[in-house]
Amino acid sequence: MPLPSEPRVFDHQVHTLGLATDEALTALLDRYPEELFDINAYSYDEEGQVSLETGSRGRADGATILAEIKAGRLWVNLRDVQDAHPELWTPIHEAFQANARALGVTPIRTTGQLILSSPGTKVPYHFDAAGVMLFHLRGRKRLFVYPPDEAHLPQAEMEQVIMRTTTEELTYRRAFDADAQVFDMEAGQALTWPLYAPHRVENLEVFNVSVSLDFQTWETRLTRGAHFANGVMRQRWGRRPAAMGQTPMAARAALWACSLAMKKANMAENRIKDFERSFELGAGRQPAA
Ligand SMILES: [Fe+2]
Repeated sequence: MPLPSEPRVFDHQVHTLGLATDEALTALLDRYPEELFDINAYSYDEEGQVSLETGSRGRADGATILAEIKAGRLWVNLRDVQDAHPELWTPIHEAFQANARALGVTPIRTTGQLILSSPGTKVPYHFDAAGVMLFHLRGRKRLFVYPPDEAHLPQAEMEQVIMRTTTEELTYRRAFDADAQVFDMEAGQALTWPLYAPHRVENLEVFNVSVSLDFQTWETRLTRGAHFANGVMRQRWGRRPAAMGQTPMAARAALWACSLAMKKANMAENRIKDFERSFELGAGRQPAA
């Protein structure tokens, strides 16, 4: 298996390198390419159901962006750390490789995003279509990790997300929380979990800095392609695919090959439109809580 069957916590030292101080982040935000910013603001109703607004950095400088994150309810991802911030990526990737060896994981592709998030903000219930190791550098956040089974992550919903045909969030019910493993992450800890395990995040009442390292192995790549092909066959031809857990790797490889042809033929219509960016940092208007 490419990943543990249970979440695993590791220690790292990246938080000691001075890369997540106010000073370092201000300088980084001043120079980080605008097209690599994702600026999200989530709001939740009483049932925990989510809505999302997205923003742009506008002309705000680094100090302004940092101040707005600390004062607001924002979730800011700086994508492609592996290209845009080698000084941070090098120690993160070294720490990942040491842990990956311990897990028996052989990655074929790794990417990273630096996550700066407001005190008390939450990320909704979701899964990632890659392996993830989350390195915590500053603050405290609570991770809820749920079992990656049919009850918590129906295969048909997973296919829809992987095909990118829906903007719907995964179905989440508060009752799921009884099945979650909960981790309060401190600076100097890294967490990984079973492939596709649904999870959500609640920041505690402090500003948070983490790096999410996403990795693909051949097994995760073939499995993702197999879900894509299954989704197309389910949606277009009404097939009922076998459970992925009972689909051997050779069959997943055949489905993955199909998925490449399907993607070339544009068989999964991408219905996700770019969210219109509805607010701008530094312009004195963040979404209301
Ligand atoms: Fe995630």
